[in-house]
Amino acid sequence: MKKNGDDKRCLSDEAYRLIDKEIAKYPEGQKKSAVIAALAIAQREKGFVDHSIESEIASYLEMEEISVREILTFYNMFNKENTGKYKIAVCTNLPCALRNSRYTVNFLKEFLEIEVGETTKDGLFTLLEGECFGACADAPVLLLNNDEMHSWMDETKCKTLISNLKEERLVE
Ligand code: FES
Repeated sequence: MKKNGDDKRCLSDEAYRLIDKEIAKYPEGQKKSAVIAALAIAQREKGFVDHSIESEIASYLEMEEISVREILTFYNMFNKENTGKYKIAVCTNLPCALRNSRYTVNFLKEFLEIEVGETTKDGLFTLLEGECFGACADAPVLLLNNDEMHSWMDETKCKTLISNLKEERLVE
């Protein structure tokens, strides 16, 4: 629970309420078991987990900062800095690579006019390479915003996806 004097904290009361709910799922003295959930809650609220949020979570869960960083850097669904509204990760592991995922990455680089790791000037798209998403039969696979899988992503399907996302933005 957030206490008086905690006004400098990066996360909202609601985020702490959700983190407390996660902590309550584990035995007394095992707050750190809620670390992945806490990082996910922070990312949902802020869009990324930077150094200050990382330290705050470490202190709240009574963990060493390095332990939180190890988790944060192991899972590539965590954003260490702000990303575009749509984070596109193309799997480049072997089964996807054998089905031309490198071509998909190169096509998206050219189409969006950015390099891997960059965000388009309008702040809409960030392009990343990802590790196996467990859907190798659908290769090449692309993951949108960590939770929406897109299969068999050739040039035509990539163009359709990007244009649908742009239109989605226009109707908001
Ligand atoms: S290798 Fe790409 S989803 Fe498994």
